[in-house]
Amino acid sequence: MSWKRTHYCGEVTKEFVAKVVTLNGWVNRRRDLGGLIFIDLRDRSGLVQIVCSPETLTAEQYRTAEGLRQEFVVSVSGLVQLRPEGQANPNLASGEIEINVQSLQILAESKTPPFPVDRAEDVDDSLLLKYRYLDLRRQHLQQAIKARHEIVHYVRNFLDAHGFLEIETPMLTKSTPEGARDYIVPSRIHPGKFYALPQSPQMFKQLLMIAGFERYYQIARCFRDEDLRADRQPEFTQIDLEMSFVEAEDVMNLVEEMVVGLVKAVTGREVKTPIPRITWAEAMLRYGSDRPDTRFGLELVDVTKAVAQSQFRVFASTIASGGVVRGLNAKGCGAKFSRRDIDRLVEEAEKFGAKGLIWFNVGEEVKSPIAKFLSEAEIAAILASLEAEEGDLLLLVADEALVAADVLGRLRLMLGKQLGLIDNDRFDFVWVTDWPLFEYSEEEGRWVAAHHPFTAPHDQDLDILATDQRKVRAKAYDLVLNGIELGGGSIRISRREVQLKMFEALGFTEAEVQEKFGFFLEAFEYGAPPHGGIAFGLDRVVMLLTGQDSIRDVIAFPKTTSAMDLMVGAPSAVTTEQLKELKLKLELG
Ligand code: AMO
Ligand code: AMP
Repeated sequence: MSWKRTHYCGEVTKEFVAKVVTLNGWVNRRRDLGGLIFIDLRDRSGLVQIVCSPETLTAEQYRTAEGLRQEFVVSVSGLVQLRPEGQANPNLASGEIEINVQSLQILAESKTPPFPVDRAEDVDDSLLLKYRYLDLRRQHLQQAIKARHEIVHYVRNFLDAHGFLEIETPMLTKSTPEGARDYIVPSRIHPGKFYALPQSPQMFKQLLMIAGFERYYQIARCFRDEDLRADRQPEFTQIDLEMSFVEAEDVMNLVEEMVVGLVKAVTGREVKTPIPRITWAEAMLRYGSDRPDTRFGLELVDVTKAVAQSQFRVFASTIASGGVVRGLNAKGCGAKFSRRDIDRLVEEAEKFGAKGLIWFNVGEEVKSPIAKFLSEAEIAAILASLEAEEGDLLLLVADEALVAADVLGRLRLMLGKQLGLIDNDRFDFVWVTDWPLFEYSEEEGRWVAAHHPFTAPHDQDLDILATDQRKVRAKAYDLVLNGIELGGGSIRISRREVQLKMFEALGFTEAEVQEKFGFFLEAFEYGAPPHGGIAFGLDRVVMLLTGQDSIRDVIAFPKTTSAMDLMVGAPSAVTTEQLKELKLKLELG
C-alpha cells in the first residue's frame, strides 16, 4: 500500500467513520495502555489520535509501533472509528474519532528533541531559537505563520484590485541618513566602497512615481541597525505603497479600507469607520504619546493655568521658563494605594525622565508633600482641573511640554495595565495626523526629520521651514492600533526647491546634499507628480491580528534581542581570504 497521505490529520472527523485513511505526520506523543499504544499524530492541520492494537497489527508492525518515539515521521493507514463513550476531546477537530491502525511505516526516525515540542512553555528562549525548526512545529507558531501568509495574500489581492503594481527595489543600495544606522556590505569589485541594505524603499518608490507607475506596492524587507525590542527586529517586512496624484486624504481612505477588510477577513471583527483621527498635538496633550492607546481613559490634563500664579518654586520656575504643569487623575487610587505604592510611582516617573512627581491624595483632607507650599485656592483649582473626588490620587509633572507629556503618558500606560483598565478584547485604531515635520535631537544638537526628510510640510508652513522648525507641521499620518504604531506615511515633497530647503533646514551642507541625494534631486527636475504613500510594519500587523506578544512569534526565523540568529550562528567571522578579497583589515579593540 502506498505511504502517501489521503488526508490531513485535522481533516478526519466523524463523517469519516468506517472509512480507511492514510495519514502522514510526526509523533506528537505516545502512550502505552495495557497492550494498546496511543499516538497523537501531528501534521500542519492539527492532531489525530491513532490506536495501535496487537489484534489488528502483525507482530512485526506492532513491534514497530512499540519503537515509535517523539517526532518520528510516520505513515499510518487505518480505519476511522468513533472514540469510546466519554473519551472525545472537544479541543480537537478530530476529537470525536480515532484511527485504528492497520499498517504503519516509519519514514524517518528522530533523536530525542532538546525540548518536547508539545510542551515547550518553560523552555529557555535561546534553546527554542537554536532549534527554531522544532519550535516552529508548535501549534501557535504554525498558526501565526499561516496567518501571516493569509494577510499578505489579502493585501496583494486588495492592492491588485486597486490598480497597484508589485515592483521590487534593490537590496544592495546606498547608505542614506534615514533615522537608524545602516547595515553595510563591502564591495569586492570596488574596494573601500560599500553598499547599504535599505532601511526602507522610500527613495525608490518615489522614483517609481516619477517614472510614471502611479501605484506601487511591495512586501519589502527592510534593515535597520537599531536597539531591538519586542516590536522591533533588525530585518523586518513592510507593506510598502506609494500613489501619484493624491492628497493625504486619498491615501488614508484607501489604506483604511484595506485594513478594515483585513481585520474582518482575519479575525471576523468589524472595525467602525471612519477610523477616528487625532492630531499629533492633541494626542500628546491627552495621551502623552504619539501612538496613543485609546482603549482606556485616564487622560492627561493641563493644569498650567490653574497654578500660573503659584509661588511654589517648582511650578513658578517651570512656567517661567516656558514649561507646563500637567497631570492625571488615578481614580480611586488615593484610597487604594499605600504610601509605598505612591513612592514607587514617584520612582517610576523619575526613571521615565521626570525631575519629580507631585501627588495629591484626595481623602477627607488632601494630603500632598507640597501642600504646605500651596494656598487653599491653588489646591482647590488643581482638584477642580482634574475633576477630583474623594479617594482619587492626582499625579502632576512640571517640565517642558514634551517631557511632561512623555512621563505622564508612560505613567498612564503603566497605571492602565496595573488597574486593569485595558480591555484586551478591544481593537482601537486611530490615525495620528499633522505631525511636526522636525524634532530636536539632543544627541546630535540639531533638528532632525520626525519621519524622513522627504515628508512634505503643510503649505501654510512653507515660509518658516528653515526659520522656525518647531512649528512646522507635516502632511504625515500614522495608523496606531492599541498603542502600537502599525504604519506611517505622508505626502512627499515633489518640488526640488522645497526638498533643497528641507535639507538645508536639517543642517546638510550643499556638498553633503549633492553626495547623498544628488541623483534624487535631479529626478525632480524631470516632472515629478504629486505623490504620497505609507508603509505598514507587516510583522506588527500579524502580531496584533494573531494576538501574539512579540513580532518574533510571527517571523519564521527571527533574531534575538542582540541581533543574532542562534540557529545558523550569524553573525559569524569570515575567512582571511574573504577579507583579503575585500581589502579589509580587522582592528578589533
Ligand atoms: P517607518 O520608519 O515609520 O516609515 O516604518 C513603517 C513601519 O514599519 C514598522 N517598523 C518596524 N517593524 C519591525 N521592526 C522594526 N525595526 C521596525 N521599524 C519600523 C512600523 C512602522 O510603522 N519609508 C517610510 C514609510 C513611508 O513614509 O511611506 C518608513 O519606513 O510598523
Ligand atoms: P524638591 O523641592 O525638589 O524636593 O521638590 C518638592 C516636591 O516636588 C518633591 O515631591 C518632588 O518629587 C517634586 N518635584 C520636583 N520637581 C518636580 C517636577 N518638575 N515635576 C513634578 N514634581 C516635581
